[in-house]
Amino acid sequence: MAKSAIISIGAYVPSKILSNDDLSRMMDTNDEWIRTRTGIQQRHIALPEETTASMSFEAADAALRGAHMSAEDLDWILLCTDTPEMWTPATACFVQECLKATHASAIDLTGGCAGFLQTLELADALARQQKTVMVIGTELLSRSMDWSDRNTAVLFGDGAGAVIVSPSRDAGIQLTHSRTFSDGSQADILQKPYGGTRNPIPPEIVASGGHHRIHMEGKKVFRQAVYRMANAAHQVLQDTNTSPEDIDWVVPHQANQRILDAVAGELHLPTSKVFSHVRHYANTGSASVILALADMILKGLLEPNQRLVSVAFGDGFSWGSALWDVTSLPPAEFLGRDM
Ligand SMILES: CC(C)(COP(=O)(O)OP(=O)(O)OC[C@H]1O[C@@H](n2cnc3c(N)ncnc32)[C@H](O)[C@@H]1OP(=O)(O)O)[C@@H](O)C(=O)NCCC(=O)NCCS
Repeated sequence: MAKSAIISIGAYVPSKILSNDDLSRMMDTNDEWIRTRTGIQQRHIALPEETTASMSFEAADAALRGAHMSAEDLDWILLCTDTPEMWTPATACFVQECLKATHASAIDLTGGCAGFLQTLELADALARQQKTVMVIGTELLSRSMDWSDRNTAVLFGDGAGAVIVSPSRDAGIQLTHSRTFSDGSQADILQKPYGGTRNPIPPEIVASGGHHRIHMEGKKVFRQAVYRMANAAHQVLQDTNTSPEDIDWVVPHQANQRILDAVAGELHLPTSKVFSHVRHYANTGSASVILALADMILKGLLEPNQRLVSVAFGDGFSWGSALWDVTSLPPAEFLGRDM
């Protein structure tokens, strides 16, 4: 069966930077605690006029520019986010309109921090049917954050990434294999419980900012993230008869540095093979793997004939891993990137 590939990458982070010291003036925390527990030093935060759709548009437009494609060439826009433009319609439809992607069908998916790998698996199936698909992972977490909750507010940042997936023409990053999973029985460990049909928002919760509160049992999430990401990667390697030594890079969801180091340990790989820029961007949810991939290309870390393993884990729980083969380097543009 025909393969599919990532043929262009666009990424965007807002220009505003919030450092750990800035946070320590907003809540009872400090740079030392955040750095030692998470590796994070700063995060990019959307400006008031920015929205999930506007950031997504910047990333998608950059991906189209790189591919020298017109938005009219797109058959699908699959947008993954936990922080949509509004409840309905889909954020993907706002992006479709901004791009003038007049032939594209546009839909949102919600997969938490593993959402990009899940969405990519769907895009791969469409691309094998000769469709050209824009996959967007995007998150404006700062606007859905309880800024008095130091347990979670320090962990996240804003950003958007977009990749164009198309039938392979022996170019780009081939989507060789992927396995993704979900376990809804663990939903209560990491969730934003208010605002849906199960828990309407009472006025007193709005007054306290609690409707933005992400409920997270940090230690449980930590253990599950390490175990599940490593397990998924082992399965992908086993399915493809690949040994860990054949892997040039792990491209992980940038949850936090301690999780990435622990995943490296579980995979018996040196931490130097597990890409991290979490200190600059923090956890950008659905966007994070795309930002990492774009940054790796721009830093000159990727080259043809390399094998990459991506891993991700997030609320749901959902998690997964993908094996990618670099046939040729796709064009990558990363707007707002820290050098
Ligand atoms: C959140 C996390 C960094 C907390 O680290 P930890 O070592 O488990 O810390 P603890 O939860 O034991 O908290 C230790 C203390 O620090 C305090 N603390 C929590 N956040 C703090 C902050 N930002 N600044 C200072 N102190 C903080 C806690 O209140 C606690 O104080 P106490 O002992 O007086 O109750 C860690 O559990 C983690 O990384 N979890 C995974 C989170 C994640 O990546 N989620 C997204 C997955 S996609």
